[in-house]
Amino acid sequence: MAKIFHDTLTVDKDDLLAVCEGILMHEGVPKADANYVAWHLVETNLRGTDSHGVARLPHYVRRLKEGSILAQPTISFEQRAPSLGLVDGGHGLGHLVMRRATEEAARLAETNGAGWVAVRNSSHCGALAPFGLQLAERGMIGIVFTHVDPMVLPYGSRAPFCGTNPICVSAPGANDRTLCLDMATSVVPWNLVANAQQEKSEIPTGWAVDKNGNDTTHPDEVAALYPFGRHKGSGLGIMIDVFSAMLGEAPYGPDIPKMYGNMKEHRRLGGLVGAINIRPFVGVEDFEARISEMVSRLCGLPPMNGFDRVHFPGEPELETKRQREKEGIPIGINILEGLNALAISAGLSPLQSRQTE
Ligand SMILES: NC(=O)c1ccc[n+]([C@@H]2O[C@H](COP(=O)([O-])OP(=O)(O)OC[C@H]3O[C@@H](n4cnc5c(N)ncnc54)[C@H](O)[C@@H]3O)[C@@H](O)[C@H]2O)c1
Repeated sequence: MAKIFHDTLTVDKDDLLAVCEGILMHEGVPKADANYVAWHLVETNLRGTDSHGVARLPHYVRRLKEGSILAQPTISFEQRAPSLGLVDGGHGLGHLVMRRATEEAARLAETNGAGWVAVRNSSHCGALAPFGLQLAERGMIGIVFTHVDPMVLPYGSRAPFCGTNPICVSAPGANDRTLCLDMATSVVPWNLVANAQQEKSEIPTGWAVDKNGNDTTHPDEVAALYPFGRHKGSGLGIMIDVFSAMLGEAPYGPDIPKMYGNMKEHRRLGGLVGAINIRPFVGVEDFEARISEMVSRLCGLPPMNGFDRVHFPGEPELETKRQREKEGIPIGINILEGLNALAISAGLSPLQSRQTE
């Protein structure tokens, strides 16, 4: 994960989970659902993806208060063909909607070999990795997409069209070597810039442009982000909008209500979750052993100058998780202050924090 540099305090994961769960329950989210969303957010911070963890909770709370996210949605599933289905998220929290789509895709793949579930009427679902890893844990290959409002410059354009439309692809591996590529199709996710805005820190050149199309390092001036890899990231982001919008009849690119726009308006986000059952091809244990062997060979390659060694997709997050489980989770001081204000107004004790070492 690209970093922004700012002052942090450290909190324990269990305290953070309890406070996030309590804040969501105060907004009317049932305990089991609040627990899953809190787990998803804290897990995302544990894995080092600070753009999509607890920093986003105040935003979800605001939308819950304004009614554009429903605390107790009706999330429904309709099977459209033996291995295809559609989840209507009922304007619930995106984490719950994408979890349901992932469960349904796995169920279809158990019986029919593969499952593809389109999503509509969802909201921001945070990081995709927890859904991809959910499928890998069931011995399946996972492919997960979602889309967001326009904030990325298509290659050659000065105006944004699609969002930071992420992709997650996962494949189970033995010995903690599950491959999990989870990434925005922009140079960085928008919410890393949002964190920089909150912490009043600069961003590096090359991430974003201002309203005149000039590079900017000032997070408040950001009007759009660059795609990763020039025309390639740009093209992939556009195709992810197709997968996320066109099957489930969700709006696409410029028509998607803005994340930080009208808080009373439903986001109506789409997505697509795919699961491939490995068993009809090869035994899961054999598959996992081969992935593990592939990872060993990959990581054994001689490193380039300036690199310690070669890492596999998903490994940096595993390493950060091991470290943060022991040492706690560093959180920007302004983000922590925002969470504590919510905790207090929900009648909870503020988080205990200590200096980050
Ligand atoms: N829900 C949404 O609307 C939305 C939108 C955009 C992004 N996101 C989320 O934002 C998160 C962060 O995205 P990102 O683009 O900043 O990801 P990133 O750049 O931090 O990582 C991308 C991928 O590269 C791998 N990686 C990183 N360093 C590596 C190395 N040295 N060697 C090998 N592999 C390496 C990581 O394991 C990861 O799979 C993701 O979880 C994504 O799902 C969500």
